[in-house]
Amino acid sequence: MSTAINIAQVHKYYGNLYALKGITLQIERGEFFGLLGPNGAGKSTLINIMAGLTRANGGRVSILDHDVAKHYRFARRCLGVVPQELVFDPFFTVREVLRIQAGYFGLGPENYAWIDELIDALMLSDKADTNMRALSGGMKRRVLIGQALVHKPEVVVLDEPTAGVDVELRKSLWAFIERLHNEGHTIVLTTHYLEEAEALCDRIAILNHGQVIALDTKEALLARDIGGKRSLHVTLARPLDPIPSALRSIVKKELGYEIVFELNNESVSILDVVDSLRQAGATILDLQTEKTDLEDIFIDLIQGKAS
Ligand SMILES: Nc1ncnc2c1ncn2[C@@H]1O[C@H](COP(=O)(O)OP(=O)(O)OP(=O)(O)O)[C@@H](O)[C@H]1O
Ligand SMILES: [Mg+2]
Repeated sequence: MSTAINIAQVHKYYGNLYALKGITLQIERGEFFGLLGPNGAGKSTLINIMAGLTRANGGRVSILDHDVAKHYRFARRCLGVVPQELVFDPFFTVREVLRIQAGYFGLGPENYAWIDELIDALMLSDKADTNMRALSGGMKRRVLIGQALVHKPEVVVLDEPTAGVDVELRKSLWAFIERLHNEGHTIVLTTHYLEEAEALCDRIAILNHGQVIALDTKEALLARDIGGKRSLHVTLARPLDPIPSALRSIVKKELGYEIVFELNNESVSILDVVDSLRQAGATILDLQTEKTDLEDIFIDLIQGKAS
């Protein structure tokens, strides 16, 4: 068995809103998988179906071969889910919340050492005996991550775990999630920070309007042709006025000494730009091209342009 999560033809309606239009995806064991897409694409709906919190109207989902609808308890035991929404009982302390959660899986004091390890790894040691209501938003999110991991699930699904989390904490959360991945956990992550998905994920699915519009390795996605577009940043010794007419149509941004051109393979080359600028009497101090990143690919896919 090498498939961690098997999603086959999953459909979901909320009334007459068609939220998932037949999703089919396999996530392999040990993968670091990214689930990306704009607001409302259906990511959380899919995750809630995996977690058995929402029922699909059609299709099936299994976690390590346990069907989430038919064998809910087995499937649930293999899975740790960090939900997008922060929901807590405010009257329990961090340690109590984690112990109660472990209790749902039939785990008692034999699991306390692991809970302490989690508290430590999530940098919550000095808040372990603080009531949930007295934690900041980022700290609450760390407790949610702890809750998902109390039973050491093989498959960990994180729905925007870093939303609203400061830069430093985000970095330490990523280090922790990477550690889990290195220890053999399968990780599924949704995030709106595309540079994070680019840094962490092996494979990425992009959802839009309830459909998978791209599913590929990160490398293959980044190698996609998005019309040969790239940016050329030019720094000049003096502002150039006017910009040569041959170049005006490709100016993306102009800030005095700095001009950003958008190049398209078919029309104007870097050399054409340099020649035109020189002929216009400009002195070029610096030239930089910007390579495609996941954000460019994402935007093109969402707008339906990429191949
Ligand atoms: N409980 C619900 N009842 C009715 N409609 C819902 C419910 N939950 C989600 N939806 C709708 O389903 C669609 C998908 O929502 P979902 O939360 O899955 O999106 P998402 O990809 O997680 O977005 P985000 O990036 O904003 O978290 C949206 O149109 C949303 O309004
Ligand atoms: Mg969501």
